[in-house]
Amino acid sequence: MRIAILGGTGDIGEGLALRWAFHADHEIVIGSRESDRAVTKAREYETELSSRGVDVTIDGLENPDATATADVVIAAVPAYHLVDTIESVAESLTAGTVLVSPAVGMRHDEAGMHYNRPGAGSVTALAADVTPEDVPVVGGFHNLAAGRLANLDVDLSMDVLLVGEDDDALETVAALTDAIDGLRPLEAGPIDNAAEVESLTPLLINLAEYNEGLHDVGVRFE
Ligand SMILES: NC(=O)c1ccc[n+]([C@@H]2O[C@H](COP(=O)([O-])OP(=O)(O)OC[C@H]3O[C@@H](n4cnc5c(N)ncnc54)[C@H](OP(=O)(O)O)[C@@H]3O)[C@@H](O)[C@H]2O)c1
Repeated sequence: MRIAILGGTGDIGEGLALRWAFHADHEIVIGSRESDRAVTKAREYETELSSRGVDVTIDGLENPDATATADVVIAAVPAYHLVDTIESVAESLTAGTVLVSPAVGMRHDEAGMHYNRPGAGSVTALAADVTPEDVPVVGGFHNLAAGRLANLDVDLSMDVLLVGEDDDALETVAALTDAIDGLRPLEAGPIDNAAEVESLTPLLINLAEYNEGLHDVGVRFE
């Protein structure tokens, strides 16, 4: 499977790229607004993987070029730039490609982080509103901590809550989740339930802030 990570130059993109290349043999393409940045990061990830005995080629391309050849596109950009990013690649999305949104809108004040629910109901719903109709959208990976994901020495033991309407797309993303050691995919219902999933992320950040010794926490349901 060829996975394009738009904004794969950033924190969560790095973690997902490293984990998919390390634990599975999926083809990874790093997308960026700047092809030079994409290539530089792709080489960095290759070097990290090579130091662990995994020799892979990771492509680095501008977001629309990365999208054009992908089976799955992860829109790993800040929530406030998600719509622009999806619109910038819309013409490169082919029917049946799966678009995944891990984005969470948050605001910060003196108490901590708070979920910033968009008018569409959730960031995943916002993504679905601007994505071409023949491209199913799945919300997922919202509650993973990028630092933990990118550190290949660390066990994950986390759940990944998935929301979406299209069963085949959900199955595809669940299989991609399962391919990463320590991640368990759990279905959380249709996109109408995305806000509940997204709103866990500021809670996790606040728990880490207020409890000494807790870093990069995720969720695990037992
Ligand atoms: N960090 C986490 O632990 C974590 C965990 C779960 C979910 N998430 C979600 O995943 C998404 C990405 O998080 P992140 O921490 O990886 O973000 P980030 O590192 O701040 O940014 C990711 C990438 O987004 C691109 N970007 C930045 N500004 C942009 C703009 N104005 N327009 C288009 N692209 C822009 C950049 O890529 P280029 O400059 O190369 O284009 C950047 O490398 C967010 O929506 C976040 O809520 C993050």
